[in-house]
Amino acid sequence: MNSAPSSLDIEARYSCARTLALEAAQLGMSHYRQRNTLLVEHKGNDLQDVVSIADRQIEDFIRARLAERFPEDGFLGEESGSSDLAARCVWVIDPIDGTACFVNGLHNWCVSIGLLIDGEPHLGAIADPNHNELFHGCLGQGAFVNDTPLKVSAATNVAQGLTGTGTFHPRGKEHFIPFLEKLLAEGGMFFRNGSGALMTAYVAAGRLLGYYETELKSWDCLAGLVLLKEAGGQVNDFFRNDGLIRGNPYLVACPGVYQQLAEMIGPSLDG
Ligand code: IPD
Ligand code: CA
Ligand code: CA
Repeated sequence: MNSAPSSLDIEARYSCARTLALEAAQLGMSHYRQRNTLLVEHKGNDLQDVVSIADRQIEDFIRARLAERFPEDGFLGEESGSSDLAARCVWVIDPIDGTACFVNGLHNWCVSIGLLIDGEPHLGAIADPNHNELFHGCLGQGAFVNDTPLKVSAATNVAQGLTGTGTFHPRGKEHFIPFLEKLLAEGGMFFRNGSGALMTAYVAAGRLLGYYETELKSWDCLAGLVLLKEAGGQVNDFFRNDGLIRGNPYLVACPGVYQQLAEMIGPSLDG
């Protein structure tokens, strides 16, 4: 769907997403400067899956501002869960994408705010305060980093550039290692910066040819998917089988290498 659904103020929501992402990123920076004082907790049994008070505070900030401004809209956030998912507009946000980088002092994290309208990713804003980059886009209006338009790479083979990758322990290394072997065998090279939202934005920007993650959640990628679509990229059937809530394997790429990457992943991409 490329036209704005009637009777919804899309522009107000797009403008709000950009402003809120920037403000939330500044809130993140104030925590980041004092990261040594943050209490870091682990989610479940995976010691690599971390969260801090910064994640929760930023999500509370975004959620409260959205509820004030658009009380009729639904919400899905990584830290505080969901409300009103049957609404026409549902905000899908990750307060800090790249938390492991954040707590370890690596400058690869961002705030990601996306909006679904009638079940379709419609607009998104991803703020990276360490590099002063705001990635944003809206269906039918293009995608940008700050004011510069985004366009995916024109490459036709993985050997022509870098491919983003990611995995996490519970999914199992059997979905990851064979892919890496094939990527290297075909002359490609892997990249991982610890933020799925930023790596998706980098595919939209043509910095990466593609990005495969063995399993991603919708809050990691929803804003980025709008940018990707507007920049001419391709994505797998990520929302199948309740992907919005449960997550799924994830592949995004420029059209010239999408099929090559999909073949390297094989059946893992569908299950
Ligand atoms: C994580 C990042 C990372 C990806 C993980 C995600 P978080 O999100 O996007 O790149 O590999 O699967 O969980 O925990 O930093 O919000
Ligand atoms: Ca995330
Ligand atoms: Ca997060």
